[in-house]
Amino acid sequence: MTTAPAIGRPLDRVDGRAIVTGSAHFSAEMPILGMTYACLVGSRIASGRVTGIDATDAQAEEGVLAVLTHENLPRIAEQPPLIPSLAGTAAPGQTFFPMQDDIVHYAGQHIAVVVADTWERAQHAASLLRVSYEETPPVTTLEQGRAQAFEPDSIFGGWMPGRFQRGDVEAGLAEADVRVEATFTYAANNHNPIEPSNTTAEWDGDELVLYDATQGVNATQITVARQLGIPLSKVRVISHYVGGSFGSKAMIHSHAALAAMAAREVGRPVKLVLTREQMFTSVGHREEQEQHLVVGATRDGRLTGIRHHKLSPTSHFDDWAEPSIGVSSEIYACPNFEGVYRIFRANTMTPTFMRAPGEASGMLALECAMDELAHTLGMDPIELRLRNYADVSPSSGLPWSSNGLRECYRRGAARFGWEKRDPRPGVRREGNWLIGTGMAGAGFPVALPGNPQRARARLYSDGTAVVQAATPGFGTGVATVMTQVAADALGMPVERCRFEYGDTDLPNIAAAVGSEGSGMISAAVHSAATALRNQFISRCVADANSPLYGADPVDVVVRDGVMTAGTASDSYTDLLQRNFQPDAEASGVWDPPGGDAEFAMLTFGAQFAEVAVDRDLGVVRVRRMTGAFAPGRVLNPKTARSQLMGGMLWGLSQALLEANYTHPRTGRWANTSLGEYLVAVNADAPDVDVELIEVEDDVVNPLGVKGVGEIGQVGAAAAIANAVHHATGHRVRKIPITIEDLL
Ligand code: MOS
Repeated sequence: MTTAPAIGRPLDRVDGRAIVTGSAHFSAEMPILGMTYACLVGSRIASGRVTGIDATDAQAEEGVLAVLTHENLPRIAEQPPLIPSLAGTAAPGQTFFPMQDDIVHYAGQHIAVVVADTWERAQHAASLLRVSYEETPPVTTLEQGRAQAFEPDSIFGGWMPGRFQRGDVEAGLAEADVRVEATFTYAANNHNPIEPSNTTAEWDGDELVLYDATQGVNATQITVARQLGIPLSKVRVISHYVGGSFGSKAMIHSHAALAAMAAREVGRPVKLVLTREQMFTSVGHREEQEQHLVVGATRDGRLTGIRHHKLSPTSHFDDWAEPSIGVSSEIYACPNFEGVYRIFRANTMTPTFMRAPGEASGMLALECAMDELAHTLGMDPIELRLRNYADVSPSSGLPWSSNGLRECYRRGAARFGWEKRDPRPGVRREGNWLIGTGMAGAGFPVALPGNPQRARARLYSDGTAVVQAATPGFGTGVATVMTQVAADALGMPVERCRFEYGDTDLPNIAAAVGSEGSGMISAAVHSAATALRNQFISRCVADANSPLYGADPVDVVVRDGVMTAGTASDSYTDLLQRNFQPDAEASGVWDPPGGDAEFAMLTFGAQFAEVAVDRDLGVVRVRRMTGAFAPGRVLNPKTARSQLMGGMLWGLSQALLEANYTHPRTGRWANTSLGEYLVAVNADAPDVDVELIEVEDDVVNPLGVKGVGEIGQVGAAAAIANAVHHATGHRVRKIPITIEDLL
């Protein structure tokens, strides 16, 4: 048994063996008696009406139990508003719910659900549906929608203003000695977690159990309960393991309620698993976009103005744009800033969160423009950034809750070997390869959940402990990390603690979105475990049979489950056994700070990349990446490093590979399989070096955790694009950068 603190140790994942050996049950793997299988059918057209669905052949197939379409699917009770699932609210992915009428808004929109006794029969029957349409010309591309674009009041489900303004950007840019102006275009991106989205629904009378791949069990519970018009207490959502989500499982998309409706219809449990192809049309995506940057500076590199405009398509029902302008307005001490979103209605489902939603795309544009500015000024890119270092939040003037950006630049540069760099582009060669290096800054907001976060801790008389919270195991190692948090707060060895999670019957935690999972869940777990420890201490100092009787509670320390004050000691287990108690329990609540903020909160980092570009073939290989990040306290360096590494590799994928396009005439996505939608694989992955810089933060939450889920992706693509320029002398302002761009 060890007595060293568990927090900060690179512990292996407690669920690693179960996941690797397959004994972990993901939500589509629940062994349920009498299971039936649902297959979704998507619209072939992107715009128009369904004029008829002939299900005669499908229904005649053996084993087919139901064919649901807009003609026979019961209407939903309501579609709740689009609110990001950062609090205990419903969180539908869009305000449109399919199969309520005959109108088609986008290609792939669900138009039927076929249920059969096997998955194969359901799929086959679905292929036999004869659907007729009345088609109207769709609008899906930037070029088709540009002229209709408008400036929305707000974006992001109403959570962010459509315009950011401070100072006078016109005057700021006018007084600049040097200006860089650039337009960046981005292909749309899709989520491709290993596990596709899925829901299994089982009714017992009027009680519904959902096994759902979700980032928030309570978000699924509230959303589906409202859609079906049933009491929250009648819906239980279970989700122990999630095979990656990255925002695709943050909002609760319509397949969850459709599974429940289908199960009610056939009177048996229904499993609904999206196909890989359906993942491209059913769970939102990162929208195609164009960002226009104007950056002005004095000759000595002080920023005088930044203009950051974005144009993107959104759905017919929601004013959504990923917030590409948030961090770009905060990261530099520039007095004049203007950020404007313009969106247009298109035949698309509402886009959604995708890892570093907005930050990844927005910082790509800004950090490439900053690189261009440094080059124009003949200044080192890090030096330019240091000259514009924001001591306080540039928008609010508030001090940062914690920072660490200077240290990120310094230590990242040292590890990467930045000082040896020859700034001239196109001078380093190895045979046919042109070698270049680039860097970029990174920032990610520290979001706080909008509601109290709850957990429970229980200690058994055999000396084992369980802490519980309703969060799903969303793929990042939360069970491991929360065990560490509980062990330290209880004063127990980590081996004797266990984290139970993934069930709405447990205390409520908001959905794990916005990189806030580790911060908010650790806060609740820490509160519950601390409450339990304090309960034990106050009981034993008041217990005449305890050696600690009469001691001052503040003098009592706990280690390995033994409470000690001076030379006297008593243990958790002795106290329980003496009192014939099988266990003791306490609840904990963390109420996130709200109201008048006294601090600005942002997580900072710096990214470095080296690329080799084949002079003749235009092939780009990323040879190494270094990222230095200051995420507050690091609960487990192994799982934190994995998160950051994953984010950085996704940045590589974003920079060079990931792209989806709609056909301008059909409005359908071109790349709807992993054969066509390319994601980085091991063969693309270079050495990835992650440096964790711990900074103290006593504002964000009790343990000072700022989160690592998304910042790894911010700036990574920019560092690569800047390295491509350094290698070739060529600026590519289009993402992904492909071979054709470099020939
Ligand atoms: Mo994350 S993209 O905020 O679910």
